Amino acid sequence: MAVLEQLTSQQAIALENDYGAHNYHPLPVVLTKGEGVFVWDVEGKKYYDFLSAYSAVNQGHCHPKIIGAMVQQAKRLTLTSRAFYNDMLGIYEKFACDYFGFDKLLPMNTGAEAVETALKLCRKWAYEKKGIHENDAEIIVCENNFHGRTTTIISFSNDPVAREHFGPFTKGFIKIEYDNLEALEVALKQNPNVAGFLVEPIQGEAGVYVPSEGYLAKAKALCEKHNVLFIADEVQTGIARTGQLLAVDHENVKPDVLILGKALSGGVYPVSAVLANNAVMDVIKPGNHGSTFGGNPVAAAVAIAALNVVKDEHLAEKAEELGVLFRSELNKYIETSKIAKLVRGKGLLNAIVINDDEESDTAWNICLALRDNGLLAKPTHGNIIRFAPPLVMTKYQLQDCVSIIVKTLKQFE
Ligand SMILES: Cc1ncc(COP(=O)(O)O)c(C=O)c1O
Repeated sequence: MAVLEQLTSQQAIALENDYGAHNYHPLPVVLTKGEGVFVWDVEGKKYYDFLSAYSAVNQGHCHPKIIGAMVQQAKRLTLTSRAFYNDMLGIYEKFACDYFGFDKLLPMNTGAEAVETALKLCRKWAYEKKGIHENDAEIIVCENNFHGRTTTIISFSNDPVAREHFGPFTKGFIKIEYDNLEALEVALKQNPNVAGFLVEPIQGEAGVYVPSEGYLAKAKALCEKHNVLFIADEVQTGIARTGQLLAVDHENVKPDVLILGKALSGGVYPVSAVLANNAVMDVIKPGNHGSTFGGNPVAAAVAIAALNVVKDEHLAEKAEELGVLFRSELNKYIETSKIAKLVRGKGLLNAIVINDDEESDTAWNICLALRDNGLLAKPTHGNIIRFAPPLVMTKYQLQDCVSIIVKTLKQFE
């Protein structure tokens, strides 16, 4: 088979199955093209993308301004490593620091790498600034978190599938219930060696759990009281997804450490970052941390373009407005539905909970039917389906999508 031969869906799936490690269970659809809110499969069928590559493609597929910036930069200089300076990184770092309101940025590539970076930064700050005894630092995390797949990160996951047979795990984490301020306060009081609190402002992977109003602001205040770094993992919730630039902005919280990824590049390139003020970031010295690709000029050009699109196209405002419409339209249906229990979310990060037990394959089957009806979504955990379309969607398109979702749910009543 020639490499550039056009494959059928069946052939593409068979190839992945035969030659790729089986670390994912994709919905059976093979995509070949994307534009804005749409993707096309190899047979030419068009779909609304309601996952946006787990909220990476907030700016829409193949946004011409982001692709343009990438191509232009790729023709000039792609990678120097950090052994030398390049003429894009500083421009990007200043741009992003001004954009998010921090003193300094540390560039990485994937979300998990950025989380790792934040954990290392937090520990180093604890030893050098807070005065915690070497190797005693603890970081508080939440149950049902999702922060990525590295060995350290899965050490504090409670997803058995993500952890099984990957031990021994990294020590130094205290797990508390999400959205439980009392648990946070107790953990902070009982453990003088706490250096940081790592939290998703909305738990995306777990099933789009939105914490109670005031949780983030009060958690931040508790962290301040105990001289503990508030570390916001906004890899999924950040960059306009929830109706504000950052999900913490809903409660006017300024994290001590901000973790970004995914939509920082509009989904065209792996770009992630950790931002913090000098008092924290300055503990990092040459040789402490790095990445060959982190901060490369293509990433820098792409991220600037991606962040400009967010502002120029008012994506946070759009996410807010469309999110309210989406939930109110779906709620009208859910009132009389037996198959859909509820819809929840913020902005355009939403989920519906299917009225069946966790182990049933109803949510998966609904996603297959949604696919047949021209909309792509995927269950997160068990019976929960996440709905996160690109934020460049129009009102008309959103209403069309609601009709597709309702029509599909009716097939299961
Ligand atoms: C909140 C959060 N943190 C970290 C990650 C890991 O990002 P990546 O898959 O780019 O390593 C994800 C990915 O879904 C995420 O949702």
